[in-house]
Amino acid sequence: MKQKIIIAGGTGFIGQYLVKRFREESDAVQVISRNASGITWAEEEKIRMALEGAEVLINLAGRSVDCRYTEANKQEILQSRIQTTRRLQSVIEQCSIPPKLWINSSTATIYRHAQDQAMDEDRGEIGTGFSVNVAKAWEQAFFERPTPRTRKVALRTAIVLGRGGGVMQPYINLVRFGLGGPQGSGRQVFSWIHIEDVFRITRFVMEHATLEGVYNTAAPFPVLNEQFMQVLRKRIRPLVYFPAPEWLLQLGANLIGTETELVLKSRWVIPRKLQAAGFIFQYPTISEALDEIFAGD
Ligand SMILES: NC(=O)c1ccc[n+]([C@@H]2O[C@H](COP(=O)([O-])OP(=O)(O)OC[C@H]3O[C@@H](n4cnc5c(N)ncnc54)[C@H](OP(=O)(O)O)[C@@H]3O)[C@@H](O)[C@H]2O)c1
Repeated sequence: MKQKIIIAGGTGFIGQYLVKRFREESDAVQVISRNASGITWAEEEKIRMALEGAEVLINLAGRSVDCRYTEANKQEILQSRIQTTRRLQSVIEQCSIPPKLWINSSTATIYRHAQDQAMDEDRGEIGTGFSVNVAKAWEQAFFERPTPRTRKVALRTAIVLGRGGGVMQPYINLVRFGLGGPQGSGRQVFSWIHIEDVFRITRFVMEHATLEGVYNTAAPFPVLNEQFMQVLRKRIRPLVYFPAPEWLLQLGANLIGTETELVLKSRWVIPRKLQAAGFIFQYPTISEALDEIFAGD
């Protein structure tokens, strides 16, 4: 049966993929956006009508973190997430038949820089610093008020790998330009997830009504940065490859307007709760994920 699915921030990398996959499975998808490609955030009554009787609301909205952390950008990164989340909460409170489920994105960056042990939902330790504070504030805005008739799940998502978006193209470019060696020490853990598994986890959460709270959304086999670069090189086969020491990354990040934290932080995150609930990953290993992403190239 056609299910009504609403995706806020559904025009981005993950959102477009989810829209396409849900539509392929014949669901009725509507998008909330800042522009006319969907219901706009200003159209509160339309948002309410869309949410009435919906199977699920998925919220992905937020300014990209791939930028220089200037004060203005930091404010926008934070506020875009908190305000959209609060807005959705207040619209849900006005619904007569609120959505059955609300999935809000969160991020695996919420945990500390970890090279000593994996972070799961129960024993993982929350980190410090700007991006952790954003993640904490985002989850707090999501959970601060109860929604008695709407189940809530926050997906602490690792770096999403898929064709044509996200981090794949920048990494492929680095390797092609000869910088395919490790970044920094190369010993930082790279937790990742294939975009198809993000879709499958969303479905899984919809179909398992007992799941609520926070879920690490990461493949069960994270790799070291140096291993990730190695499997990329195996596929791209550059003529030369040099490591990118921290000073060079800093210089490059300044030039292209981003932050080294995005590649240097050790995110060692495992999906304990999803696996305990019986979720089976389609792409558990980095080789399987990259085989799919590079197929047809
Ligand atoms: N990609 C990853 O590896 C990854 C990993 C962990 C967590 N996440 C989180 O998952 C979410 C989706 O990721 P993504 O890669 O699909 O991001 P994306 O491509 O940057 O898309 C995010 C969407 O948010 C909306 N948006 C941007 N700036 C906004 C603002 N100032 N106010 C309100 N909405 C704004 C945009 O929709 P409109 O332009 O249509 O308004 C955009 O399509 C993000 O919140 C991200 O932090 C992503």
